[in-house]
Amino acid sequence: MPLLFSYDDIPLEANRLAPLVDQLVEKGWFVGEAFIEAELCHALYREVMALAEHDALADAGIGRGNQHNVRRDIRGDAIHWLDRESLPQRQYLDSMGLLQRELNHALYLGLFEFEAHFAQYPPGAFYKKHVDSFQGRANRVISTVLYLNPEWPEDGGGEMALFEPADPEREVARVVPRAGTFACFLSETVPHEVLPTRLPRASIAGWFRRNASLNGRIDPAR
Ligand code: OGA
Ligand code: MN
Repeated sequence: MPLLFSYDDIPLEANRLAPLVDQLVEKGWFVGEAFIEAELCHALYREVMALAEHDALADAGIGRGNQHNVRRDIRGDAIHWLDRESLPQRQYLDSMGLLQRELNHALYLGLFEFEAHFAQYPPGAFYKKHVDSFQGRANRVISTVLYLNPEWPEDGGGEMALFEPADPEREVARVVPRAGTFACFLSETVPHEVLPTRLPRASIAGWFRRNASLNGRIDPAR
């Protein structure tokens, strides 16, 4: 009988998913080092660096539809939405597909799709404390971040700080943006911020959603 689905081509071991699910349930967030294979991270890193070099990254904004604005005093990254046009992108998106299946299976979340963009924060850039889901619009359910910089010095800045949902002043984790590290958390409840970076900082931010979207960019009706 032919296999309908094989894990062999996906650079994420299925047995790494159980602790992730447990911690999401327990704390609302998970951080794992060396979560995605180094080789894939490096290929994705080369891709985002090439996009930056070819001026193919767009200034990221905040808000939706006609509320969408570039506000460097809030958010200073430049982004490019993943489109499955390269093998590394497809491999990463397939890994997230595997994670989506696992989350739906274990937690009945009804996750429907995954959208993600490369992000590059130039030196000095940051993203002030926020939550990822627009209030009352519970469309982004789980947020993910994969970090891509092969090296990150101790004084590089650019960490992601996570805060306690019930006490948003209380920091519960600080994540160094080093290649392979993967973070995920509940989009509606976990406040987080990107501290000012000293070096160009590359990552993929992604969201599991409960409904369809146009990449979350243009949707003035909602
Ligand atoms: C985001 C975000 C965190 C990070 O893009 O919404 O919070 O560490 N990113 O890049
Ligand atoms: Mn965020």
